Amino acid sequence: MAEQSANETKKRIFSAVKPTGNPTLGNYLGAMRHWGSMSDEFDCLFAVADLHAITVAIEPKELRENTKRLFALLIAVGIDPEKNIVFLQSHVRAHAELGWLLNNYTMFGEARRMTQFKEKSQKTPENVNVGLFDYPVLMAADILLYQTDVVPVGDDQLQHVELCRNIAERFNGRYSPTFKVPEGRTPKVGARIYSLLDPTSKMGKSDANDAGSVFILDPPDVIARKFKRAVTDSEARIVASPDKKGITNLLNIYAATAGVTVEQAQSEFADSDYATFKTRVGEAVIETLAPVQKKYAELRADDGELMRLMRSGAERAERIAARTLEKVYKKIGFVRG
Ligand code: TYM
Repeated sequence: MAEQSANETKKRIFSAVKPTGNPTLGNYLGAMRHWGSMSDEFDCLFAVADLHAITVAIEPKELRENTKRLFALLIAVGIDPEKNIVFLQSHVRAHAELGWLLNNYTMFGEARRMTQFKEKSQKTPENVNVGLFDYPVLMAADILLYQTDVVPVGDDQLQHVELCRNIAERFNGRYSPTFKVPEGRTPKVGARIYSLLDPTSKMGKSDANDAGSVFILDPPDVIARKFKRAVTDSEARIVASPDKKGITNLLNIYAATAGVTVEQAQSEFADSDYATFKTRVGEAVIETLAPVQKKYAELRADDGELMRLMRSGAERAERIAARTLEKVYKKIGFVRG
């Protein structure tokens, strides 16, 4: 009931994170950090996209641990599991079902254009499986099941949200209005955080070189060391510019963590040298992540409670998802009992 009445007055948000690798500062600043405070304005659902995690090779034990860790982290970053619906994607079967149905309204050519598919195929040429190709269609199902208005994501997911809109419009046009056509939304600062060692590539969960990625659960001394080693350039000026990618990335990280604009960050460090600047950015990140890490440790100490929260989130999500799925089956012409 709470879900239904909230839905009548508030716009709905859906987003998810995939439990591959180790969640990074990029995931935090580009996405998760903003999610905790959204429930005042929106009716929010957040999922651990575990079905998406098997598109790359992953050991069963690792999948289990990554999933629990990410679920606990969602709550640790400030998402209240009572005010929001937080759950595991695989616990709500409608995701896989709608994913199959939507495959038939997705063109091969448009799916083939997805940048992330192209990049991942190049990265692991030995495992270019159909799931990897189909990944954005399952993501569309995640979003469309909940009649989502807004999808808050980092920059790299916007193309997938665009595909989701196309699928929704195609389905609505073929039958009659069935899905809300959602809008992707990125944060003003922090939408794309780059590797500290290679500021031309995105900071990722499964990067070969761990030193370039800051993980949300890294201990403070490790974070401090990673920032001290961050690449800069030879000209000691702290300004954001296209030819100073390392410094620009650090300024963005600082601005996003300290809650200031990049221009404010620039003037704050106008008289600093690189070493001082890098130390200060590291300190700001450590300070930001400390309460998240503390809350995370508390949550992981009680596995029973974590499982209870997962089950309760899934039950609430299931109720909303089932309505959309049933509608879709009927529109297509399936015989329903
Ligand atoms: P994933 O798990 O790769 O990333 C989760 C969120 O973090 C953002 N992000 C970043 N933001 C800034 N800088 C970075 N370096 C950075 N790296 C990641 C991502 O943009 C994302 O918002 N397919 C999705 C998960 C998903 C999903 C969905 C998202 C499944 N179903 C439905 C939205 C709606 C993914 O793999 O995100």
